[in-house]
Amino acid sequence: MKAAVYTQYGLPGVLQLKEVAKPAPKDNEILLRIKATAVNSGDVRLRKADPFAVRFFFGLLKPKINILGSVFSGEVESVGRNVKRFKIGDEVFGHTDMRFGAYAEYICLPEDGSLALKPVNLSHHEAAAIPFGGVTALHFIKKAVIKPNQKVLVVGASGAVGSAAVQLTKSYGAMVTGVCSTANMDLVKSIGADKVIDYTKEDFTQNGEIYDLIFDAVRTISVSRSLKSLAKNGIMILSAAGMPEMLQGLWISMTSNRKVMTGVISHKAADIIFLKELIERGEFKPVVDRTYPLEEIAEAHAYVDKGHKKGNIILTFIN
Ligand SMILES: NC(=O)c1ccc[n+]([C@@H]2O[C@H](COP(=O)([O-])OP(=O)(O)OC[C@H]3O[C@@H](n4cnc5c(N)ncnc54)[C@H](OP(=O)(O)O)[C@@H]3O)[C@@H](O)[C@H]2O)c1
Repeated sequence: MKAAVYTQYGLPGVLQLKEVAKPAPKDNEILLRIKATAVNSGDVRLRKADPFAVRFFFGLLKPKINILGSVFSGEVESVGRNVKRFKIGDEVFGHTDMRFGAYAEYICLPEDGSLALKPVNLSHHEAAAIPFGGVTALHFIKKAVIKPNQKVLVVGASGAVGSAAVQLTKSYGAMVTGVCSTANMDLVKSIGADKVIDYTKEDFTQNGEIYDLIFDAVRTISVSRSLKSLAKNGIMILSAAGMPEMLQGLWISMTSNRKVMTGVISHKAADIIFLKELIERGEFKPVVDRTYPLEEIAEAHAYVDKGHKKGNIILTFIN
């Protein structure tokens, strides 16, 4: 089968299209023919080994996992003998968790992994735009327990995680303000934000508004300055936090009545099923910026490297 393989960390050119062995499903696995995947910020971090700590988990000198790609939408081609949840021909979407391997024509996944039947109202390439941002935002938003009419601010509202955070907090009935650049204001309004702040013209920490939840999806806010915009007992989600913000967040949570949430997300099939149901009710939609064929993976990564993508970058397969 065809796959985008990388054997060294570096620039997008390290991703090379190669013929590799097609996998065979174990007893508890499905073999999925992938129709679409996405180039996410997580893939880019692993390709570049950025931050350096990536190397401690994924290979010190060279990557141990050679096929990136953590989300997919495709069709079940065969199933292991113990598989009950899926059958041949099912259209399935989801997240590979920490396995990666979705930059390939086929992947084997355990039937109890983070996957579900594809929403009936989405194409494969739209479905592949859901799991990365959707699962990340949902992980934190479920923990925050949002109530109707609470005031929520989402910073980075035009990105994969931010656009999902806007839609999910709206679905819980919150009043949502999205922070983005001028070019992305219409997009952020179109996915349901009640208000939009253009960060190139306005600093939300200076406008006197107080929010029950501040969700920073892109690690661009100053945590200490943003605290004055957070209600007493408010929650701050820093989904892209590095070690300094994690420690700062821990300190704030321990010494004040505000709570800061950081950390690496976990993956569950229940979250993919939750997103599927939300999509089918029309309360969540994919945000797709550009679509590339797998053959142009280096170009797709180079675009994501620039840091300005809107929502998701999709890779499609001709199979
Ligand atoms: N905790 C976890 O387990 C976890 C899981 C997944 C992802 N993450 C992290 O989450 C981060 C975001 O991921 P993502 O895929 O959503 O990113 P992304 O899609 O690449 O987000 C980029 C978006 O942010 C906007 N942006 C840039 N600067 C901004 C600013 N100052 N204020 C507001 N918006 C700004 C960009 O548009 P403009 O440049 O036009 O503004 C662009 O639309 C990554 O660092 C990733 O590693 C963490």
